[in-house]
Amino acid sequence: MRTLLLLSFLLFFAFNCNGVEVYVHMMPWFETKETNNGTWGIHWTMDNEDPDVVINGKQDLASFYHPQIGPYASGDPDVVDWQLGVMKAAGISGVFIDWPGTVDFADYRKNKQNAEAIIDGTQRTGLKFAVVYEDHNLNLAFVPDQIGQATEDMAYLQENYFVKDNYLHVDEKPLLMDFGPQVLYEKMWDQIFTPIEPKPAFLTLWNQHLQGGSYCEGEYAWVWLDFLDGLTTWYDQVDVPIKIGTAYPGFQPFYQMGGWGGPTWTIDYGEDTFRQSFELALQNTEMIQICTWNDYGEGTIIEPTDEFGTTFVDIIQQATGSKYTHEDFEELTNIYFMRRKHADNATKLEELRNQYHELMHKFD
Ligand SMILES: *[C@@H]1O[C@H](CO)[C@@H](O)[C@H](O)[C@H]1NC(C)=O
Ligand SMILES: *[C@@H]1O[C@H](CO)[C@@H](O)[C@H](O)[C@H]1NC(C)=O
Repeated sequence: MRTLLLLSFLLFFAFNCNGVEVYVHMMPWFETKETNNGTWGIHWTMDNEDPDVVINGKQDLASFYHPQIGPYASGDPDVVDWQLGVMKAAGISGVFIDWPGTVDFADYRKNKQNAEAIIDGTQRTGLKFAVVYEDHNLNLAFVPDQIGQATEDMAYLQENYFVKDNYLHVDEKPLLMDFGPQVLYEKMWDQIFTPIEPKPAFLTLWNQHLQGGSYCEGEYAWVWLDFLDGLTTWYDQVDVPIKIGTAYPGFQPFYQMGGWGGPTWTIDYGEDTFRQSFELALQNTEMIQICTWNDYGEGTIIEPTDEFGTTFVDIIQQATGSKYTHEDFEELTNIYFMRRKHADNATKLEELRNQYHELMHKFD
């Protein structure tokens, strides 16, 4: 009898993320006309789409999906509250922010400002955060001294982000991921980390840890065309101290249609893909990075959209055993639209700020 009870207990928890921490990878790169000098940001338009045009009742975005709150600016605190609020209500522990570095090129400076608006939001909402560094930008921005620039970027992270209370630490070291490497390899990283104390717990993309230098402690998985086969092989075979698994709803890139060029392979988008990759990750790792929260161009979004509503955050909310309910997602969306509607009424805005704060901290 006791064995039977124990067995059902174990079976029950096998399908819950008991003890597993769920994070989401977040893009800080969306702009509206209001925040971008009168033109929609390139991540809503790519080369040829125009959100001011409505086709079959939907705004023309460089994506197959449409945000439930409409195309937004990543640095808008009301948008950030909605996004991070939905995450918290889903039982997600925090955000891994795609971070452009400190170089001033293309839209990188705005992306960094937006990243910092998101970081402010994590403090209001009570979430953790960490950075995914884009070393590829050193090439894209034609940086002449790549090691010098990367060293400056790390100093900036240490002084401004790693010191924050809610920066995610692993074994007392700030967790730092690189989206690659794609430009800097092996001993270059040792040189770049020389001035940094404590050294970060540094992670590369999957199957690349040997390129991450001597401080590299592990890898994180990502979406790829071999779907569960590639993930299963990685979970089974890669032996590094820190492994962050992944889950995603699909891969439906808009690059070709948007005139940008890029991958053309796809993975079916929807609940099945998400459940399969999420369950595999829950069985194999203690930390999961969902890819992604909002990469509309690549079609990997779990944030609520017109097409899929709260499908993905509902699944996460059930798996994490969050005390919040589906109705809390609706309240957050309502708060967002009320803030828009009453933008000129300071009294009302103060009430809405309090409503958000209470909702976000009622189970703390
Ligand atoms: C904004 O647009 C105006 C008019 O097109 C232009 O003169 C100005 O340089 C732009 N500013 C920025 C920061 O892009
Ligand atoms: C502003 O909001 C307050 C609080 O909800 C409300 O009592 C007041 O009537 C509003 N003022 C205007 C001008 O709508």
